[in-house]
Amino acid sequence: MTNVLALKNSILGAASASNGLVDEAISAIKRSNHGTAIAVRDLGTSPVPHLSGDAANALRSPAAENNEQAAARALSDLLIAELMAADTVVIGAPMYNFGMPSTLKSWFDYVLRAGVTFSYSEAGPVGLVTGKKAIVVLSRGGVYSEGPASVMDSQEPHIRNLLAFIGINDVAFVRAEGLAMGPEMRDQGLAKARAALEEALGLSEPVELKAAS
Ligand SMILES: Cc1cc2nc3c(=O)[nH]c(=O)nc-3n(C[C@H](O)[C@H](O)[C@H](O)COP(=O)(O)O)c2cc1C
Repeated sequence: MTNVLALKNSILGAASASNGLVDEAISAIKRSNHGTAIAVRDLGTSPVPHLSGDAANALRSPAAENNEQAAARALSDLLIAELMAADTVVIGAPMYNFGMPSTLKSWFDYVLRAGVTFSYSEAGPVGLVTGKKAIVVLSRGGVYSEGPASVMDSQEPHIRNLLAFIGINDVAFVRAEGLAMGPEMRDQGLAKARAALEEALGLSEPVELKAAS
């Protein structure tokens, strides 16, 4: 692990479970791999804008036709460059209304670009973002990895599909679940997530993750 891109997406700031787990992962990586460069983009506090008509056109055509299109292409270029520079992407993804936050969806909207992060071949779409690993920290009020609510999970499959579409297939999902189901369930959910996160990080010197106070 030499270059890490961390994307945070919570609107809850310091109270956020996913932000906390992403921060713990960053601290553990820093303690274990001193040479690792870590870039953090907090989409919860600094969201990328939703696509406009101009932005959508700009990302699908070879050149910008006005200032708004040029700005959209520049933002897309920047977000893609940050992704391409990373060998590991750590994504904090709270569940909002059964899916990912719109901030993370917007990030994907600027990053999925034909001819840049994926292309079409006779055999179908080909992801061009290769050789990377992703760790996705899912935080959820309820439980979706099993039980009756699992059919409502539009978060994990959507993120998995989008990452796979651009070529990131080595993905570890870390699930912090049951966070709104009482203190005991919350503690259990966070403990399970920390164990899964530690395994996903696979650091050369195992570091026990500790909750930020
Ligand atoms: C706007 C909003 C919508 C939410 N929708 C859901 C939901 O559909 N299912 C669920 O289990 N939890 C839902 N929650 C609870 C969050 O998933 C839970 O609080 C989680 O901890 C948020 O992640 P964070 O702590 O990293 O911010 C929602 C929370 C908010 C603020």
